[in-house]
Order: sequence, then C-alpha cells, then structure tokens
Amino acid sequence: MNTWEELKAACMDCRKCGLCETRTNLVFGTGNEKAEVLFIGEGPGENEDLQGEPFVGRGGQLLDKFLDAVDLDRKKNIYIANMVKCRPPKNRDPLPEEQDACIGWLREQVRLMHPKIIVCLGRISAQKLIDEDFKVTKQHGEFFEKKGVIMMGTFHPAALLRNPRQKPEAFEDFLKLQEKIKEVCSNTY
Ligand code: URA
Repeated sequence: MNTWEELKAACMDCRKCGLCETRTNLVFGTGNEKAEVLFIGEGPGENEDLQGEPFVGRGGQLLDKFLDAVDLDRKKNIYIANMVKCRPPKNRDPLPEEQDACIGWLREQVRLMHPKIIVCLGRISAQKLIDEDFKVTKQHGEFFEKKGVIMMGTFHPAALLRNPRQKPEAFEDFLKLQEKIKEVCSNTY
C-alpha cells in the first residue's frame, strides 16, 4: 500500500482477529498523518468503538488537556492511534495474538508517516514497542531510540484518572516531550 487512503481503506475491512466480530467501528486513528509525532494508546474503549475515533472519552479529555499545555493538537500537529484498532470486549487488555494480528497495520502507518517521535501511552504499547519489560512507573519520560525513531513511554490517561497523584509526573513527561520536539522536529511548532 502506497498511500494513506489505500492503507486506511484496506484496514477498515480487517478481519485478521476475533475482535472484528464484536466491533461497532474500527478505530484507524486520528490527526495529521504528516505529523512528526505519533501517539499510540492501547485500544478503543466503548466511546471510541461507538464513534470510530481514538481517545474520545474522559481519558481523551485529559489527554487533550496535556496536549494543549504543550501546544499539541490532535487536529493539527500530531497523529493518535492504538495498538489494536478494535475494542476488546469489556475493555480487557488486548491478547498477544490480537496485538500480533493488528501490529502490521500500525507498522504500515509508521512506514508511511515516518514520525520522528513515538509516544507510547501506557504499558501495553510501551511493552510492545519499546521494551517487553517496560515499567511505566520507573521508565516514563525516558527517551529511547529504535530504528532511527525516538520513543518515549508515559502514563495512560485512564491510569491517571484512577490515580491522579501521578498527573504531575505525567505533565513533566509532556514538558520533556516538548523540549525534544523543539530539538528534533522542524514542522511541529
Ligand atoms: N484508551 C486507549 O488506549 N485508546 C483509546 O483510543 C481510548 C482509550
């Protein structure tokens, strides 16, 4: 697939795993596919499944606040996707086989976007994309480089809603991200 539209059209018909049976909408992602910064969550929840957009519930509102504080905007200068594109029933963690079935779509998104920075929101994407032993509480806000892409893991917005005491640490991560963007990106700000 050579264009974003071709990739999206193929992905929207995906039946690579059982999650296709229970989805209302596949959530391909949202934002500017020419952005230099890509955020990757876990998988759609109920609201996302109903609306076909990532992070539209309470967690999404919190994410938007953090983004706004560092001049990032999901409609303008970033792209947001998930590890799996269809909602796991009852919001359970996506199974390893579901992640493996889905990751090819994300790899294609990364290939076409070639982002400079990938931010993993939460354990599921950080363990799949940065390090299988990634510990969010210990390693959040650290930058890693993989295949020429700068990667960082931070708290999942839903985890911050459950544990608001971690919000200041998460905010620090966004400030570090802002500095890193200023250092390596030319079209974001
Ligand atoms: N949680 C996620 O990880 N992704 C979403 O899109 C919504 C909630």
